[in-house]
Amino acid sequence: MARCFVTRDLPGPALERLRAAHDVEVWPQRTAPPREELLRGAATADGLLAMLTDAVDAELIAGARKLRAISNYAVGTDNIDIAAASARGIPVGNTPDVLTDSTADLAVALMLAVARRLPEGERLVRAGEWKTWEPAFMLGRDLHSATVGIVGAGRIGNAVADRLEGFRCRIQRAGRGDDEGLQRLLAESDFVTLHCPLTAETRGLIGEAELQRMKPTSYLVNTARGPIVDQRALARALGEGWIAGAALDVTDPEPLPAGDPLLDVPNLVVVPHLGSATHRTREAMAASAVDNLIAGLAGRPMPNSVN
Ligand code: DGY
Repeated sequence: MARCFVTRDLPGPALERLRAAHDVEVWPQRTAPPREELLRGAATADGLLAMLTDAVDAELIAGARKLRAISNYAVGTDNIDIAAASARGIPVGNTPDVLTDSTADLAVALMLAVARRLPEGERLVRAGEWKTWEPAFMLGRDLHSATVGIVGAGRIGNAVADRLEGFRCRIQRAGRGDDEGLQRLLAESDFVTLHCPLTAETRGLIGEAELQRMKPTSYLVNTARGPIVDQRALARALGEGWIAGAALDVTDPEPLPAGDPLLDVPNLVVVPHLGSATHRTREAMAASAVDNLIAGLAGRPMPNSVN
């Protein structure tokens, strides 16, 4: 029996399968283990099942002398030092595919929410500030027939494109390293939606120059990772009308601290990293993460591994 440290309780039955096979410690709180608890839990573990909120860095990996398998409860693995894990021969698993559709659904929901001003309208009604129907009241912009620029040519970007066919959108794409495509897409799109992983190349990909290239009537949607967008530049872009609005499922940091300039701009919709947050998807992610960990501990290839 191997010792496993799981940094949060998971929805669904998957953890029971892990408990049946191994000696499992689950961090009991709803918030992430503090750094010293994460290091303590990993230090004696053979297997680590981590969340995207846990920094599985070189220091942790060096201190976890028995560690043989790392399984991330996410498709993104930017919280893990993959090179440090690989140098020790530790496989790192992730959970692609099972969250593609839910994340794509949320990206489309955010496009509609920001362009049709749904959160703003809801606040107004609840505050008793809506007095009557008016011809020019709270006008937004259409998603149907719009040009949508998809940054990142992977599974989730493609799933967004599939959905937008039904909205009769014109799709533009820019994959990794396609700067020419990105520049064109920024200048021409009514919506720019981000679906690339966070890497050294994509950190700060959307900064001042990129936001200035977008149309003043366009919207930015981010369901990927917060640091892909330079948030200071975004706060200026929204405050000064370089773009019409933005909708963020992810920020840097998460959550945004009180007083963050982004929280003061009216044309921003922000939600708490909900891309994969449906019952079915989070249970499927748990099953996938447990499958990876069990395989890694048995010395078998993980069903989904990034190294
Ligand atoms: C992921 O899997 O990387 C998502 O951000 C979690 O929903």
